[in-house]
This record gives sequence, C-alpha cells and structure tokens, in this order.
Amino acid sequence: MQPETRQKIEALFEQYPEKRGALLPAIYLVQAEQGWVSAEQAEALAELFDLKPIDVWEVLTFYNMFYTSPQGRHHVYVCTNLPCSLRGARGLLKQIEAHLGIRAGQTTEDGRVTLGHEECLGSCGTAPVLRVDGRYCENVDAQEARRLVDALE
Ligand code: FES
Repeated sequence: MQPETRQKIEALFEQYPEKRGALLPAIYLVQAEQGWVSAEQAEALAELFDLKPIDVWEVLTFYNMFYTSPQGRHHVYVCTNLPCSLRGARGLLKQIEAHLGIRAGQTTEDGRVTLGHEECLGSCGTAPVLRVDGRYCENVDAQEARRLVDALE
C-alpha cells in the first residue's frame, strides 16, 4: 500500500464512528493503485483496520466492483439476470465473447477489455443493460454492443 493511500485511509477514519465503517472506501482507494487488490494489499488493509485478513477478504470478494486479480483497462459487464436475458442479454454476451475472442471472466490478450456478466443492475425496464467502465448502457442491441466495445481505446 502506497504511503499516500495509507494517509487517505487514515483520514477516512475520522468520518466513521468505527474504523471498520471506512473499509469500503478504503478498498476503493487501494484498488485505485493498480486496478485490483492483491492478497498482500488485503493483509495490509486488515492490519490498518485491526481486522483479520479474512474479514477484509470477505468484503473484497462479496462485491463485484472489487477485483482480486489483474484486470483489463476497460470493463464490460453484461447483465444476464432474467429480465435482461428475456430481452436477449445472453445472446448479446455470446456475440461480445465472439467479437473479442474471450469468454466472460477473461481479459483480452492486449489487456484492453475484461468481459464479465453480472446479476441485476437495477435497470430492468431498459433491458438489456451493459455496464461499461461503470457507466450503464441501456436497451443495447448487438450492433450497439459492438460499437461500445470497439470505442474503448
Ligand atoms: Fe438486467 Fe435487472 S435484470 S437490469
């Protein structure tokens, strides 16, 4: 963990009645260092928070916005929960997999895109929904999905 990150996390402690309350924003700060959180970083966080490493690891692996392995420069996630699937999301995911030459859960060889699927994004009325670098893309068809992926640097 970089010293600046540590300082920012220690400053966060002031904002919460208990240190542990600052764990989510702290994980975001650590993840910002290299785009994912290593086991060593999780241990450093545990030490800083006076927690066991498993306590940090449980939080880290519960939320799908945290990553425990190297990631691509861009994230493309397709919601494959029922409403989106009924509107073609699974086919959309297969088309993106074919277009990128990877399967969900993998990263392109050039490190450009990590592809995944996830559960309901809370925007079922605009299904199918993709989350591209944290931004929702709604009512996406195959053509739009390809355009979105190709527009990523
Ligand atoms: Fe896809 Fe809800 S099922 S946004």
